[in-house]
Amino acid sequence: MPITIVRNDITKMECDAIVNAANSTLLGGGGVDGAIHRAAGPKLLAECRTLGGCDTGRAKITGGYDLPARYVIHTVGPIWQGGSCGERELLASCYRESLRLAEEHGCGTVAFPLISAGAYGYPRAEALRVAMDTCSDFLTEHDMMIYIVVFDRGSLLVSEKLYADIRRFVDDNYVSEHTDNTSRRHFRLFSRAAKSDSMGGASAMAAAMPMAAQLNEAVCEESAVPDGLAEAMAQIDESFSQMLLRKIDEKGLTDAQCYKKANIDRKLFSKIRSDVDYKPKKITVIAFAAALELSIDETRDMLMKAGFALSHSSKFDIIIEYFITHGRYDIIEINEALFEFDQPLIGG
Ligand code: APR
Repeated sequence: MPITIVRNDITKMECDAIVNAANSTLLGGGGVDGAIHRAAGPKLLAECRTLGGCDTGRAKITGGYDLPARYVIHTVGPIWQGGSCGERELLASCYRESLRLAEEHGCGTVAFPLISAGAYGYPRAEALRVAMDTCSDFLTEHDMMIYIVVFDRGSLLVSEKLYADIRRFVDDNYVSEHTDNTSRRHFRLFSRAAKSDSMGGASAMAAAMPMAAQLNEAVCEESAVPDGLAEAMAQIDESFSQMLLRKIDEKGLTDAQCYKKANIDRKLFSKIRSDVDYKPKKITVIAFAAALELSIDETRDMLMKAGFALSHSSKFDIIIEYFITHGRYDIIEINEALFEFDQPLIGG
């Protein structure tokens, strides 16, 4: 995943560069600034003394010294003053300038803290959104692995409304509506289809449609299991990889537009494109479904071709279904919400 959010202490990140949320003197402070100086040792401060400070929105680079990272990029975020003093642009500049320095120094991996989201008072959810948007823009033109490192369980990382909507969707509608009847309904349908096929019996159906056999355990909408064997065979003829490439064409996207939008790196996409039987991870399939803005039925179909199903007993699946059924396909927003709910992120 070219950009991902992790919960960690940034001084532990084994990246080419870590970014420090510094102040304009570059002579250390509290928060992440203090943690980085403590972990790097006194040589870091000695080098910082030679830099002559740094303006807000700008960045300067030093060695990493006793840190696992090779470099420390020091940037000075804006102090939050309510949002009408150009804070957003200054914060975005911190990420852009830091990424420019990282690229100039040949860094393949970079870790950022949530700049300005601590002592400088920038609201966390908005600070994360600026970080993700600016880094995603950078990744449309560059190849790099970017980590947004969240250190503490402070205020929400998504809007309170979105959090409440997802919570309600998880707690009320989706689980109650599907707890009892769908699996029974689905089992009846599967048995009827097995009896009706010309190859005779559930064993033939189960052999021809391994995903359908798996679906018996996982709850799934009726539309995902075709009525007859012929239709089923037609559906499983097309592999995941073939369906993906067909959908990219149908949506009028280029390969690069699709995999960048899906938070998938180029190498992984090349593997999928070159192997008609490639078996992706579930988070990869879902990332492509979001990038292609598939309906929930098309998403289920693409998942089934990779051997997966959306299940009502998985919070991750429920959150994914929330976003797809509400037509919210922004991978950044989906991953922010997944992170907030301690779920795996999508991409590959
Ligand atoms: N690893 C990752 N993130 C961390 C760590 C850590 N070890 N320690 C703190 N953070 C997080 C905070 O939880 C916050 O979300 O970094 C984010 C930025 O918080 P601050 O460090 O307070 O930085 P900032 O808000 O930009 O304020 C900068 O604080 O430390 C001083 O010298 C610094 O004056 C400057 C000001």
